[in-house]
Amino acid sequence: MSLVRVHTPSGQYPIHIEQGNLPNLAQLVPSNTSAIILISNPTVYDLYGATVEQALQAIQKPLYSLQIPDGEQYKSLATLETVYQFMLEKQLDRHAVLVALGGGVVGDLSGFAAATYMRGIRFIQVPTTLLAQVDSSVGGKTAVNHPLGKNMIGAFYQPIAVHIDTAVLKSLPDREIAAGLAEVIKYGMILDAGFFRWCIRNVQLLRQLDREAIIYAVKRSCEIKADVVSKDEKEAGMRAFLNFGHTFGHAIETGLGYGAWLHGEAVGCGMVQAAELSHLVFGLSRNNVEEIRDLVAAIGCPTLAPNLGNERWLALMMHDKKTLNQKLKFILLEAIGQAKITEVPKEALLDVLNRTVCTA
Ligand code: NAD
Ligand code: GLY
Repeated sequence: MSLVRVHTPSGQYPIHIEQGNLPNLAQLVPSNTSAIILISNPTVYDLYGATVEQALQAIQKPLYSLQIPDGEQYKSLATLETVYQFMLEKQLDRHAVLVALGGGVVGDLSGFAAATYMRGIRFIQVPTTLLAQVDSSVGGKTAVNHPLGKNMIGAFYQPIAVHIDTAVLKSLPDREIAAGLAEVIKYGMILDAGFFRWCIRNVQLLRQLDREAIIYAVKRSCEIKADVVSKDEKEAGMRAFLNFGHTFGHAIETGLGYGAWLHGEAVGCGMVQAAELSHLVFGLSRNNVEEIRDLVAAIGCPTLAPNLGNERWLALMMHDKKTLNQKLKFILLEAIGQAKITEVPKEALLDVLNRTVCTA
């Protein structure tokens, strides 16, 4: 088993990574647990619910199972209300442990439920998408969406453990794998040039979910994220590097309507746009920009951005939460593996849009 440890001021916890380790989940549940609530969705529960429930029954404590509907639109206050209702009806006390089994939607919503139920109960992330395994389950960002903005109601609240079984990735659609790989290669681009080169060499193995390659990629991604959140839990500084490509990506997601492109697909394309901007602003070499474009294409994500019209593009990027105060701040690369936050003039953005937006 691979083990990564996260150390933040508000909590330290292990990330267990292995192929086929779902049946070992019970080892992470503390002995003073009063009851367990398992939250999932019907898609994931039908595939893995029985295995997880069987594992958790070893604890010999009451086990309650709740499924929330599948989809980003259910990462809402209304769904959260149903979770609180269920927990109160089952009379869960402060010593209950919540287990979140699913992708980022289940993980983010369940984490926020755990953060707020009775002022906070312990929770364990069992992420089942690649994106959730390498990103959303680690670092304690929990949230639900509000009609006026994504992830607008939330809390920093760390899990007590993250349990990753890479075998569950086999049931994911190819597009979800590509979207998760976008976050994997992001870590190399912003902080680890050696990992970026490793991803270029192993991209086909990653797409095929080769056991060793995927475990290494998940572990290295978790190590990098753990290091970042350990240094900057509440995003006062370098944690923002993790948003590389996201300002462009969020504009694509909102501009096309949520669900048209997966989040990771939009981030993949956004990283190509951010690489072009890095060339203009920091002189990132053309060779590096083309390497990034080729790798994004090789993982199966789009590299040509949708034509939303320049005015709408700019408005959407201004609306992104990192551009409050009307300042357009971007995470850019001085070199592969060296990210930096900087303000960007509007002219440079327009130049990049002209280079990266689909004209057909
Ligand atoms: P998701 O949770 O919607 O999962 C994608 C789809 O895959 C869903 O239909 C789900 O039911 C299905 N699925 C999950 N596991 C499966 C499996 N093993 N086999 C088959 N199907 C499976 O999407 P996601 O990409 O995992 O997460 C996106 C969410 O994560 C967004 O809400 C985003 O805001 C959030 N996010 C949070 C953070 C953070 O730091 N907290 C970081 C990145 C993204
Ligand atoms: N996914 C960005 C973060 O966790 O900060």
